[in-house]
Amino acid sequence: MRICVIGTGYVGLVAGTCFAESGNNVICVDVDEAKIEGLRNGVIPIYEPGLKELVHRNSAEGRLSFTTDLAAAVKESLISFIAVGTPPGEDGSADLKHVLGVAREIGRHMEGFKIIVDKSTVPVGTADKVRQAVQGELDRRGVSLEFDVVSNPEFLKEGAAIDDFMKPDRVVIGADNVRTAEIMKELYSPFMRKTNRLIVMDIRSAEMTKYAANAMLATRISFMNQIANLCELMNADVSAVREGIGSDSRIGYDFLFPGVGYGGSCFPKDVKALIKTAEECGYDFLLLKSVEQVNERQKRLLPEKILGYFGNNGASRPLAGKTIAVWGLSFKPRTDDMREAPSIVIIERLLELGATVRAHDPEAVREARKFFGDRITYSSSNQYDILAEADALAIITEWNEYRNPDFERIRALLRQPVIFDGRNLYKPARMQEIGFEYFSLGRTP
Ligand code: UGA
Repeated sequence: MRICVIGTGYVGLVAGTCFAESGNNVICVDVDEAKIEGLRNGVIPIYEPGLKELVHRNSAEGRLSFTTDLAAAVKESLISFIAVGTPPGEDGSADLKHVLGVAREIGRHMEGFKIIVDKSTVPVGTADKVRQAVQGELDRRGVSLEFDVVSNPEFLKEGAAIDDFMKPDRVVIGADNVRTAEIMKELYSPFMRKTNRLIVMDIRSAEMTKYAANAMLATRISFMNQIANLCELMNADVSAVREGIGSDSRIGYDFLFPGVGYGGSCFPKDVKALIKTAEECGYDFLLLKSVEQVNERQKRLLPEKILGYFGNNGASRPLAGKTIAVWGLSFKPRTDDMREAPSIVIIERLLELGATVRAHDPEAVREARKFFGDRITYSSSNQYDILAEADALAIITEWNEYRNPDFERIRALLRQPVIFDGRNLYKPARMQEIGFEYFSLGRTP
């Protein structure tokens, strides 16, 4: 099939590349000329394992191309995916200006039957707005052309994007036209090997499914963070509790790891947007408001533990003179993404308390500089270098290289063997055995 994907962000670039990999002819479109020029020369704007190889191969084989010419791309394609950003507006609601702008462009340039697919995460009712925007342009041009709008939310995770896209747990298609739903099924059939879960439903339910999924996952995380905090007060072990509850097939083991709070470009934004959507319907989504509040609090936990350890002497900058080494800056491993990363809140607070901060991250240093500038020092090469003469190590992101480190080396480098672990990477009993003061979440030695 000939398709175009408008917006070459995370979702658009991965979707376009994977559709090309399954044999389609794909044109990826973006307004950012530098980005498109880069992609044409094989430069991938994001760090995502496996993506580069796929882009190179499919470009070389002529199935994947990049352009800023939206009009030409739309004219040549049966299906146009809209995968542009929906940043949160001032009030938390999703800002649809890019999505509707693209819809108008499509209406301005289409010449025959088109399937227009909302791939971006958009609030319930957006497909109707897209339809109106396209129809408005057709009316203005005085032409009568057929088109269908489809909602096809994306569930891929950063860091595992290619795998998630190629072997999805499910694909959701919201369509009100049987013929169009069949075409979408055909497009996705190469990816239906792991499960055969292609779920066709009405458009509004498809739009809601995306928000409900992310809100549910965020709820699990906030819930587990509170259970961990309570375990800590009661001398219980949250890892054991996770095993205990996860074995119930209705609950499951996944996504029950306490941490420094959820971040990234999706959960915080989508939780806010769903609260806002509910508000617009006159409904108070109390539960989600708490999920958000708990998350804000959780991001502040690690610096408070550090402050508690070194003693709050009442000075305005009680951690002045202390150096904290930080492992991990990105919002999660295997990505360089710093959007809404808990490290931002944690490090800002440590700086406010007067601490000197040195941070290591294998991929996110360039992005992190945009947030902290020269106020902290960075390393992306050797995770041990930043430990020399530091007063404590704080672990924020669970990169694999932090999971089984050389503890002897850590001890030799730190002023005193103290670790604040925001991801529960090590066993408290073992840490005690090897002489570390070890603070984690919801577990006592
Ligand atoms: C999330 C969803 O998992 C995807 O299904 C969805 O498609 C995507 O948002 C989106 O809407 O585009 P992503 O933001 O890439 O994907 O990251 P996740 O792996 O879901 O992690 C989100 C946050 O939750 C991270 O900050 C992570 O550290 C935190 N987390 C996750 C925990 O604190 N505990 C856990 O047990 C799991």
